[in-house]
Amino acid sequence: MTSQSRRYHITTFGCQMNKADSERMAGVLEDMGFIWSEAPEQADVVLYNTCTIRDNAEQKVYSYLGRQAKRKHQQPDLTLIVAGCVAQQEGESLLRRVPELDLVMGPQHANRLKDLLEQVFNGNQVVATEPVHIFEDITKPRRDSEVTAWVNVIYGCNERCTYCVVPNVRGVEQSRTPEAIRAEMETLGQQGFKEVTLLGQNIDAYGRDLPGSTPEGRHLHTLTDLLYFVHDVPSIERIRFATSHPRYFTERLIAACAELPKVCEHFHIPFQSGDNDILKAMSRGYTHERYRRIIDTIRRYMPDAAISADAIVGFPGETEEQFQHTMDLVEDIGFDLLNTAAYSPRPGTPAAAWDNQLSEEEKSDRLQRINHLVSIKAAERSQRYFDRVEEVLVEVQNSKDPNQVMGRTRGNRLTFFTGDIAELKGQLVKVKITEVRAFSLTGEAVGVAQAVPVGV
Ligand code: SAH
Ligand code: SF4
Ligand code: F3S
Repeated sequence: MTSQSRRYHITTFGCQMNKADSERMAGVLEDMGFIWSEAPEQADVVLYNTCTIRDNAEQKVYSYLGRQAKRKHQQPDLTLIVAGCVAQQEGESLLRRVPELDLVMGPQHANRLKDLLEQVFNGNQVVATEPVHIFEDITKPRRDSEVTAWVNVIYGCNERCTYCVVPNVRGVEQSRTPEAIRAEMETLGQQGFKEVTLLGQNIDAYGRDLPGSTPEGRHLHTLTDLLYFVHDVPSIERIRFATSHPRYFTERLIAACAELPKVCEHFHIPFQSGDNDILKAMSRGYTHERYRRIIDTIRRYMPDAAISADAIVGFPGETEEQFQHTMDLVEDIGFDLLNTAAYSPRPGTPAAAWDNQLSEEEKSDRLQRINHLVSIKAAERSQRYFDRVEEVLVEVQNSKDPNQVMGRTRGNRLTFFTGDIAELKGQLVKVKITEVRAFSLTGEAVGVAQAVPVGV
């Protein structure tokens, strides 16, 4: 059968890196002549791009896979692929667990999908999990949005947080060159994209592995330098970046964000715990005092900045008092958004082997308590938007109300207002906020916002 008439489906689990990888793999498949199928049951190639950050993320994959493996017995030419972080973690053993699989490929191999598939079509069962230098992608990603886009700037992570599988599955840090990043952004601008989110697991590490340093001994390429380098890309109106690490976050970066009009006043800086002993056990390399100082500095430069973060509750050995320190931090900072999780022991990480694990009941009790506080604080933070005019970049129609469109403020709040998506998609609109909820806003359009002038 030629690939011309064949269809593919991708289901993506996990973080923004995985979403970006899926878009690139979809681009490869379309380049090979495959056509997108929304329903996995109707696809000839089914790819699961997987996440292993917590046990429940991993279990979800096995239940999806089971269904497709069964289908393969009726349809032997079905090609089944597991990509991403579970693939990297499990490797060969995935084939033993699900012998129907054709291809198991780690995240570093996403750009090699075409080569790997050719080996599969030649009759091989393939496992690609060895560490590789990540090649620049020469195909065009198939992007989910026409307005906002992810752009990888650094792959991998060299930290060793004691709970985390990411360094095991994503490998060592590899920065793309500023020129490659800018070239991708220029193409995006020409294609009509308006917003770019620069991605890295530890984006503050950007450039450390690239050659060159300044006379003062600073790396020549830092995230701050990169922001200045890409800031004037035509047609890109907004720039965001994630994820920031409190250990490496600099005032120089904050000053650049305040100075550069396209960089949104939105910071995603996970703190994980508000207790210094737990932070130490996690090997995070900062104290809660340092974290608080970072937020104070951001608010000094940009009083209205939106702050989001991640936190883990129920880390091994966490006492009620230590958990309260995390609650205190949430209370004091007032996050616009906080992703919370109960600690999940992961194979191959140090903390999983410790004997001071908390019970599931204790962890889920703390999770409920923190989530309750998080929504109260987010609702308080939303109040400041009431009656204000916000700049909203329109992305899609509101799936629940076709008369409304959905976009985001510069602070990343979801915002709904009455309007025609055909006319407004990709527009920056001034919206007067008339209703506020914990994590979203409703308003009415009062005008078209002025684009940021190119060049600063
Ligand atoms: N690089 C980012 C986070 C990557 S993982 C950082 O350094 O913050 C995304 C989030 O998943 C983490 O911020 C953490 O809150 C959560 N997480 C990671 N490992 C976890 C584990 N074993 N159990 C529970 N949550 C975990
Ligand atoms: Fe994981 Fe820590 Fe790296 Fe983040 S910085 S990806 S939490 S090891
Ligand atoms: Fe999950 Fe891998 Fe991202 S483990 S959170 S998909 S880096």
